[in-house]
Amino acid sequence: MARFPLIAGNWKMHKTVTETLNYIHRFRELVAGIEDREIMIAPPFTALYLAGRELAGTGIRLGAQNAHWAEQGAFTGEISPVMLKECGVTYVIIGHSERRNVFGENDEMIRKRLEGVLKAGLRPILCVGERLEEREAGRTFEVLERQIREALSGFAPGDLGELVIAYEPVWAIGTGRTATPEQAEEAHRYVRGLLGELFGDDFAEKIRILYGGSVKPENIAQLMARPDVDGALVGGASLDPETFSRIVKYETL
Ligand code: PGA
Repeated sequence: MARFPLIAGNWKMHKTVTETLNYIHRFRELVAGIEDREIMIAPPFTALYLAGRELAGTGIRLGAQNAHWAEQGAFTGEISPVMLKECGVTYVIIGHSERRNVFGENDEMIRKRLEGVLKAGLRPILCVGERLEEREAGRTFEVLERQIREALSGFAPGDLGELVIAYEPVWAIGTGRTATPEQAEEAHRYVRGLLGELFGDDFAEKIRILYGGSVKPENIAQLMARPDVDGALVGGASLDPETFSRIVKYETL
């Protein structure tokens, strides 16, 4: 079954509002006319509103890097899904390994954030992935299983139609050390099998699973050639519009 590819850029804590607008003006031209895949960029919160206005009508989706579960409340420093929606956001990255490992977000928080995102009618990109020591100890599948079971517990398949999963091995993020296409495919196939167990095979076949971790123009084509790799979540290499547009086009040169 053909799944529509999604190439997503996660800018992390990079770019001011001015830098974001300059990027978008250039990037819009570079990817104009591409209709056979979905493209998303996730700037920092401060740039979302203006980015949303600049992206309107271009087909490029706007993403956010996290969201709180409540619509509003006494949660200093957090941003609600309703606020993101007003800015024109479509996708929200949830459970990124930097949120888990640097800011202490646990599976239960991630489940709640996911719920809030879905409730607002936004599409979550749930990030999962093992750390180096977990891979070396042969625990990759066990970690993926725990992260997915806990994040998706209590949901019915009908609630999760817009879910996207990103497999991001922590040892490959920002390290220049990409998982081989075989390693990515193996993990993606495991995740799809688990989704099938939890929610049925029809559901699992529809869900897009992105690979993330040192994706660059040099490796995108090989990764995308794998049957269970439905797109990419790109950090560092999404910060330059030329480089990211080459990834979007699977230009390996
Ligand atoms: P990277 O980051 O492409 O810089 O490795 C990926 C991510 O963290 O989503």
